[in-house]
This record gives sequence, structure tokens and C-alpha cells, in this order.
Amino acid sequence: MPTALITGATAGIGAAFARRLAADGFDLVLLARDGDRLAGTARDLHDRYKVSTEIVVADLSTEEGLRTAEERLRTGVDLLINNAGFGNKGTFLNVPVSDELTMLKVHCEAVLRLTHAVLPGMLERGRGAVVNVSSVSAFATRGTYGASKAWVVSFSQGVASDIAGRSGGRVRVMALCPGFVHTEFHERAGMDTSGIPGFMWLEQDKVVDAGLRDLRRGVQVSVPGAQYKAIVGLTRFVPRGLAGRMSSRTGRKYD
Ligand SMILES: NC(=O)c1ccc[n+]([C@@H]2O[C@H](COP(=O)([O-])OP(=O)(O)OC[C@H]3O[C@@H](n4cnc5c(N)ncnc54)[C@H](OP(=O)(O)O)[C@@H]3O)[C@@H](O)[C@H]2O)c1
Repeated sequence: MPTALITGATAGIGAAFARRLAADGFDLVLLARDGDRLAGTARDLHDRYKVSTEIVVADLSTEEGLRTAEERLRTGVDLLINNAGFGNKGTFLNVPVSDELTMLKVHCEAVLRLTHAVLPGMLERGRGAVVNVSSVSAFATRGTYGASKAWVVSFSQGVASDIAGRSGGRVRVMALCPGFVHTEFHERAGMDTSGIPGFMWLEQDKVVDAGLRDLRRGVQVSVPGAQYKAIVGLTRFVPRGLAGRMSSRTGRKYD
């Protein structure tokens, strides 16, 4: 059985990946901070899909959590989903700088270190994949969040190109860039989403489905949903300052 490690596997997009990969027959390693919730998720998925489920309780904003995750990855995993992430409540100067740095640790340092830990084994075995969950905000300025997600896209493309010659395309790295998805993300960040029009919301399972389909096709940057493919395409033609002002306002009302 192939094994997938998913960070942020207890809620939202990570939980949707866990359900889908279990249904596809992957054994699962589920990582998040809340141990009780992880254990419940692992039990449910094992009972429902008869796959093996292991939990890793780790906070990816800490050195200890990062080391724990790296060690588990070095023992061998076939698919890594770097998904854990969060939004801060407020725009740049309203957020404590320590919270912005925590975001860089989880969105950038964790993605870099976990990818670095898992790829050598994949290249040795000649198969495997890493999916780094970014966001469409990577394509238009949106504070530290958008900047961190732009880093994820650039990093993923860079690594994918670096390893392309070594794996003959059998080890893949892809950035997955969803638009708005109904998860716990906005509530946790205290964001009021009432002004976001219905057509801009994507379903978790469809995001996962589109992402895994693009991964099989060898796509490096996956943007689920026709509406977001169009928006990302348009950002190439709209002046960057205007796109930045629009993006900075959309869905950024705080309770
Ligand atoms: N929802 C959207 O509209 C949207 C759009 C584009 C991109 N994204 C991206 O999608 C990813 C998943 O977000 P989501 O919407 O599914 O959010 P979510 O429902 O809030 O789930 C976040 C998951 O990450 C875990 N997590 C958070 N901080 C962590 C940390 N420091 N260490 C380990 N695990 C941590 C949480 O579990 P614990 O609290 O137990 O640790 C939870 O399992 C994020 O990278 C987000 O930026 C979301």
C-alpha cells in the first residue's frame, strides 16, 4: 500500500485529502496539533476505508514539531501533502509581527523542510509526489499571506524543475492554488465572508479531485475551478497595483 502524509489533516482541505486518499487505498499519516481530534479522524478513516492510519501530533511553527515531521518523512512516504496553514486576523500593521513570522514558519519553512526531508527517498525509489497547498492569492498581492503563498508556488516550480532530470517525471512536485473554500480557515482567522459572492466558493472535494488529476497529468501549478483559472489568467493583463488593491479588499473584512 502506498503511504500519504498530510499536514493539517483534521479539517478543511487536509481532511478532504485524507478521505479521498483513504478511499483510493493509501495508508495515512495524519499530522496536526490537536491530538484528540487527530485520533478521532484516524479512527473514523480506518473504520470506513480499512486503511492503516497513524497520527503525528506536531506544531509546524515549532522546531520540535518540524523535527518530528522530518524524522517521520525520512522513514519513507509516497505522497506528501503540505497543507497546514492559517490566516491572520487583520491587515499587515494590525497583526503582531510574531504572528506574521509564525505564518512564514508554517507556510514556508515547514514546506521547505518537509519537502527536503521526503524527496531523497522518493528519488531513490524512483516514485513519489509532493503537493504544496498554496492559494490563488499567490498571483495577486495579499499581505504576508499572499506573499507566503507566492513563495510556495515559486519554490514548488523551482524544485520540480531541479528534480525533473533525475526522476524522469516519476517524482513530482506541484503547487495547488485554490480560491475560497468553505473550511474552518475563515472562522479561525475571524474573517467575515458574507461579502464573498457564491460563485467564488469551491467545494473541498472538488479542489482535491482537481489537484490529484493535475498531479497525475504532471501539472506544476494547479488552479482548480474555471472561475479561478480565468481570474489567474486575467492577472497577467491587469496592472499589478490595481490587482493588488482589489485582492487586498476581497474577503478581508474582520469580525
Ligand atoms: N479555505 C480557503 O479558502 C483556502 C483557500 C486557499 C488556500 N487555502 C490553504 O489551504 C490550506 C488548508 O486550509 P483550510 O482552509 O483547510 O484550513 P482549516 O480548515 O482551518 O484547517 C487547517 C488545518 O491545519 C492544521 N494546522 C494549523 N496550524 C498548524 C500548525 N501550526 N501545525 C500543524 N498543523 C496546523 C489544523 O489543525 P490543528 O489546529 O489541530 O493544528 C487543521 O487541520 C492552508 O494552507 C490554506 O492557506 C485555504
